Amino acid sequence: MAKSKRSWEKRLAGQREKLVVDFVQSLSVDKRIYKYDIVGSITHAQMLAEKGLITKKDFGAIKNGLIEISQEIAEGKFRFDASYEDIHMAVEEALVAKIGDAGRKLHTGRSRNDQVSTDTRLWMRDEIEILQAKITLLQRAFVKQAKEYTDDLMPAYTHLQRAQPVAIGAYLLSFVEKFERDYIRLGNCRELANASPLGSGAVAGSTLPLDRKKTAKQLGFSDITYSSIDSAGDRDFCAEFIFDCALIATHLSGLAEDWIIYCSSEFGLIRIDDSYCTSSSMMPQKRNPDVLELIRGRAASVYGSLMAMLTILKAQPTGYNRDLQEDKVHLFNAGDTTGRLLDIADGIVVHTSFERKKILDRIDDGFLDATALAEYLVSRQVAFREAHGIVATLVNFCEKQGRKFRDLELSEFKKHSPAFEEDVYKYIGAANAAKRYATDGAGGPGQTKEQINYWQKQLSQR
Ligand code: ARG
Repeated sequence: MAKSKRSWEKRLAGQREKLVVDFVQSLSVDKRIYKYDIVGSITHAQMLAEKGLITKKDFGAIKNGLIEISQEIAEGKFRFDASYEDIHMAVEEALVAKIGDAGRKLHTGRSRNDQVSTDTRLWMRDEIEILQAKITLLQRAFVKQAKEYTDDLMPAYTHLQRAQPVAIGAYLLSFVEKFERDYIRLGNCRELANASPLGSGAVAGSTLPLDRKKTAKQLGFSDITYSSIDSAGDRDFCAEFIFDCALIATHLSGLAEDWIIYCSSEFGLIRIDDSYCTSSSMMPQKRNPDVLELIRGRAASVYGSLMAMLTILKAQPTGYNRDLQEDKVHLFNAGDTTGRLLDIADGIVVHTSFERKKILDRIDDGFLDATALAEYLVSRQVAFREAHGIVATLVNFCEKQGRKFRDLELSEFKKHSPAFEEDVYKYIGAANAAKRYATDGAGGPGQTKEQINYWQKQLSQR
């Protein structure tokens, strides 16, 4: 049994069973948003005073009491007791203990339902800014590396088969694009989350003349929410935030997968610095990419939180239901995990080098220049479908003899198509092909240079 009955439990006979107290509490999870709870409460109390619903004196006592509580929590001096249920009640009870009757007026016109939604939105705004800052750091790391490898080529893969030559820098910048979308998505999420539910009460608002627009403005919200009924149970912004995290984790897991493959001896495209490798307890020769594998693996936890959040919301009756309390476990897991993933990814990008020489030695294997060769024929008025067939036949021809396009005599080219001329040698080979990419956003060194300039400018403004 809990020691004493809480002030909000007068309706209930006797004491709550200890099992129940522990089961319904969220304090262990939501105590970390105490700052937002306190800021929200001070703002609410100020509005109550301005509206004449409490005295200025009461407001002064409430404000000072809450600031003291905030300091006590920050200094680790606050005693969190599970019987307080959650951070909202813990703070309110502590306030009453500290300042007496004035503290009992704080919850005027308010429910924990609008309170928790307000707190969560305030937390999310900051969390999004933190994640966006981490994304920017990671993007900068990619751009810095791209600058290092602007003119070096590597194979681009489709179906994990050698496809076309690209600048290593272009490959690195492809991730900057993905993370830019993540950055924007989080910004969009922040915009939708940035409306104040405070003053919506439990579900139907209040008969008291609360000034919702005032508290919203003071808390930096761009607007208020316009349905108290919807506000009580709306956690769309939570699902959206976790989805955004899940997509970041997806992008990171793709990077991890690439580099796990690329650092194998079979591929040998990159070398991860020892400081970001692990070894084997048994095999002395091993340099393992465990960090990458854990990035890939930990994405699962963010997906788990997304599924959990959606499942919490599915088919919930209109209004507030206690199921919603479970949102924070998953919100915090998604935010924390994604933050850690971004940090470690930044580290690994900085501590990885591309094996220029090894890559160059093999860059002309696998006919990466075949598409460019077909396009050469197109520029000589051969229909693309026909050109495609001619080059495919040439590839077969070369492959059987263990030769490359550049080993062929002009007469051998001409035997396959009269459209081939002496200048064909300027079009074949990975370097020639990459140099000739002419479309915006292509993977050549030229486009890479342009994009690096663009990103440097863009990211320096953040
Ligand atoms: N701890 C609760 C939560 O996180 C606060 C809201 C409680 N509301 C209620 N009607 N019991 O959702």
